[in-house]
Amino acid sequence: MQKRMKQIKLFKPYVSWRAVWNTVHVLRSGQLAEGPQVKAFEKEFGDAFNVKNVATVNSGTAALELAYELAGIGEGDEVITPVLTCTATNLPLLHRKATIVFADTAHDLNIDIKDVRKKITPRTKAIVFVHFGGNNRGLKELLELAKQKNIILIEDAAQAIGSSFWGKADFTCVSLQAIKALTSGDGGVLICKDDVMHQKARRLRWFGYDRELKQKLGDTDLLEAGYKYHMNDISAAIGRGNLADINKIITHQQKLMVEYKEFGITAHPWFACMLVPRREELRAHLKERGVEGGVYHYRNDQYAVFGGPVKPGKFPIMDEIEDQYLLLPMHMEVTVADVRMIASIIKEFYDRE
Ligand SMILES: Cc1ncc(COP(=O)(O)O)c(C=O)c1O
Repeated sequence: MQKRMKQIKLFKPYVSWRAVWNTVHVLRSGQLAEGPQVKAFEKEFGDAFNVKNVATVNSGTAALELAYELAGIGEGDEVITPVLTCTATNLPLLHRKATIVFADTAHDLNIDIKDVRKKITPRTKAIVFVHFGGNNRGLKELLELAKQKNIILIEDAAQAIGSSFWGKADFTCVSLQAIKALTSGDGGVLICKDDVMHQKARRLRWFGYDRELKQKLGDTDLLEAGYKYHMNDISAAIGRGNLADINKIITHQQKLMVEYKEFGITAHPWFACMLVPRREELRAHLKERGVEGGVYHYRNDQYAVFGGPVKPGKFPIMDEIEDQYLLLPMHMEVTVADVRMIASIIKEFYDRE
């Protein structure tokens, strides 16, 4: 009988047994809504990553929405943001009627800082830095630039769990969505540098009330128009169970990153990536051998909602690499042997020429 080929998906959720038991316990506890699990998760998350002012929410997108609101971004404010990212980075800016100013991507798929510098005007209210795949290149430079120009810096750290440098900006937004390195099923975290902003975030995530103060709908007057973005105890129980394995997750990421590097492939905590000729043919070649290589995020300027499609020329690096970038798997089910196999499949593809 022929041995079944291992299928390596680009992304795969990691759920620890502790997350399973925690969730069962919460489901039977009678307390499903935001409660003690959320409170404990916030404390544990802060301790694990050495960050303060942790406010959980129900998605990374909600964290971004709140960050933009807290930053005071409104109609006509210019926000410089990467052209290559998840649409969730930029869609909330449309809701706020902000003027989106896309900056080109660099060859490592993170924002091109030179282009950011060129695009700053007196109307620039904020810059958004995305850790693409968990790549933190450029964050240090943008922290300095934003400080010097008195511009708000927002970190979209949706993919940054496992990175060694994140959570430094005025606002940092993490995603705990299903396929992220650390998941709570769906969820997010907003970290505010400023304590007052953090308190406001805690209110805005739950209609405008601070639940810690036991304010209740009806009993207490509502002073701010908040949202329903809070995390519930079921998600927090999953998040806590997985967070207990964070060292294991990070050690695994690091092992795979080293192995990819051995083969000249760049790897970040959440995916490895390459710029390759004949990408679609290579993807098909990998797929036939059980490996999913992906594109996953697309240039945002081409979507009608952002005013696209845009003619070539505005973002030269994006134009150049659009058909070349390929993401490769990094998750907990990928082994060092798998990375060797992926590298040999890629080599075999190009050696055939
Ligand atoms: C860069 C980036 N920003 C924001 C988000 C949105 O996060 P969520 O799916 O938790 O809303 C994602 C999710 O994939 C992302 O990759």
